[in-house]
Amino acid sequence: MRNLLSIEEVDRDAMEAILGRAESFAEVGRRDIKKVPTLRGRTVVTLFYESSTRTQSSFELAAKRLSADLVSVKAAGSSVDKGESLKDTVATLSAYDPAAIVIRHPYAGAAQMVAGWTGAAVVNAGDGKHEHPSQALLDVYALRRRLGSLEGRRIWIVGDVLHSRVARSNLIAFRRMGAAVTLCGPPTLIPRGIEELGCEVTYSLDGLEEADVVYALRMQRERMSGSFVPSLREYAANFQIDTRRLGPRQLLMHPGPVNRGVEISGEAIDSPQSLIGEQVAAGLVVRMAILYEILAGQPERPAAFGDGPAAAEAAAPTIGQPA
Ligand code: CP
Repeated sequence: MRNLLSIEEVDRDAMEAILGRAESFAEVGRRDIKKVPTLRGRTVVTLFYESSTRTQSSFELAAKRLSADLVSVKAAGSSVDKGESLKDTVATLSAYDPAAIVIRHPYAGAAQMVAGWTGAAVVNAGDGKHEHPSQALLDVYALRRRLGSLEGRRIWIVGDVLHSRVARSNLIAFRRMGAAVTLCGPPTLIPRGIEELGCEVTYSLDGLEEADVVYALRMQRERMSGSFVPSLREYAANFQIDTRRLGPRQLLMHPGPVNRGVEISGEAIDSPQSLIGEQVAAGLVVRMAILYEILAGQPERPAAFGDGPAAAEAAAPTIGQPA
């Protein structure tokens, strides 16, 4: 395994390998010294062109717990502000010979492009509305710890599906693990034709009681160029997940950050059915497992400034493909 660009490329066996590895890192996390030497002497770069709390902090802590050297770059405040392109930024950081670059970028396909410009392994930490594969893996991990298996479980993903990379990655991952997925939201926030990915679609919360798991999505106002709902108040009236709508046997998830009182009520967030804190905790061990699966056992490959796409391609089988 070399890159993690899309959950589509991660077959069930590869997912099981990452989830199993994450279990072993959870055990390491219960020790007094929570560090293993696996990536000693290797460098992980995090390169974030969009805001993040959970993904960036957990990848960085994961790299440190694996004893890697860490270079943390946020586009804001870097030479991106002076007009440096993504390609030149990646070439610059590749000169440090990193083992992996973890990239978040507002454009769909950015991580794939980066993989063509560097000899480092590339992890997609969210590319526009396209994919957030590590989120899908950590959500499967957190759910399996509660439910044992996702086989035959019914999962409703509710809210702003249109702007959500999490919805797309999670739909694929949940189905791959045997769950049945329903997407629910106002018609303006559900992409046309998404049923082709093998899910049900509904435009109201009627029937929500059948769900074993309710996965609420953030209203992504920063990605909305127009008005997709008449008002947030009206959206909340029709789609907010609160303790009145959530039955006692149902589990509640949200990728964070949460808009309290919009897509989800404060009471529901703090209820015992909420897995939101467990999702964040899962992020650390699953991202340790991702870095481990991508990097451990891979021969170190010296990269040079200006390494071209051909060299990068030769070094870049992805998770789910033979290394
Ligand atoms: N879920 C998620 O990606 O959160 P951050 O934006 O805080 O990383």
